[in-house]
Amino acid sequence: MATTTRANAAATAAGAGARAATRDTAVAAADREGRGTPAPWAKRHLLSLEELSCDEIGVLLDTAESFKEVLTRDVKKVPSLRGKTVANLFFEPSTRTRTSFEIAAKRLSADIINFQAAGSSVQKGESLVDTALNIQAMQADTVVVRHASSGASQLLARELDCSVVNAGDGIHEHPTQGLLDIFTIRERRDLEGLHVCLVGDIRHSRVARSNIWGLIKLGAQVTVCGPPTLIPHGIEEIGANVAYDLDSVLPTVDVLNILRIQFERQHGAFFPSIREYAVEYGISVERLRQAREEVLILHPQPMHRGIEIAAEVADGHHSAILDQVTNGVAVRMAVLFHTTLASSGPDS
Ligand code: CP
Repeated sequence: MATTTRANAAATAAGAGARAATRDTAVAAADREGRGTPAPWAKRHLLSLEELSCDEIGVLLDTAESFKEVLTRDVKKVPSLRGKTVANLFFEPSTRTRTSFEIAAKRLSADIINFQAAGSSVQKGESLVDTALNIQAMQADTVVVRHASSGASQLLARELDCSVVNAGDGIHEHPTQGLLDIFTIRERRDLEGLHVCLVGDIRHSRVARSNIWGLIKLGAQVTVCGPPTLIPHGIEEIGANVAYDLDSVLPTVDVLNILRIQFERQHGAFFPSIREYAVEYGISVERLRQAREEVLILHPQPMHRGIEIAAEVADGHHSAILDQVTNGVAVRMAVLFHTTLASSGPDS
């Protein structure tokens, strides 16, 4: 593992004592009438996990932990973003991410606008930037954007004055999915030295990239495994190990994060047939027997049952797939809380 990874992990350990303080500050701020003082955070945008330090990822995860507690209360709402407006700008389909950001904004008492490209003036040729500038002109404080083009959120961050949160851009990153995956693992395991294997279509996966950046910064060991045609060239340079034979890796794996085959982004034949893919890389009950008894199964969804994951595995006792969805709300509350307040400052 790279020296910087160890240094980052050591910094995480050293910061563990500060974690409770960060959590207490965030939850107290969230609970108070008005906005109080947010935990230490300075970034107006969340565009990728690549750009975050180990400590910044820690702040978001710790804040999410406190918001998860809020979500167990009878009244699942805090006044932290009262008077603020969050706009969901989705130019690609979504079930979980869009809904999760909407619930997160409502739990923080923000107003929420849901914009979908279908049925909008995008169909008349309006550009992404013009659309976003118009939403901003209606006084949105934070824009959450999903787009098929890698770099779309960076473009908006340059052009807008409000906060921009990347909800998935092309094959680049999906930082809140990476955070909620890491949060779900961290609830159950110590990340230092943990072996996480991402299986499947790594080439087209923004989820894989966010996981790799985040997990390695926090001290985990990451392997990507899939057909050679679906492993992007140079992925080792960001710290991931590469494997093509899943059965040889499985016995050493603590967490399996199973990725969807992204048929919509594949322009060509990346493997001979779906059946062959399922035989070589599908996680069946039989294959899972080779893994450690306590192996944790994750999937960002939507999933193809019977192709990359058997239904019995998706619904079995190793699976934390629906916990990931629950944790997504707390993680997105933390992201909206910190980015929106970094943009506009606490209520005067
Ligand atoms: N995991 C994920 O991004 O799901 P959606 O495409 O439904 O948002």
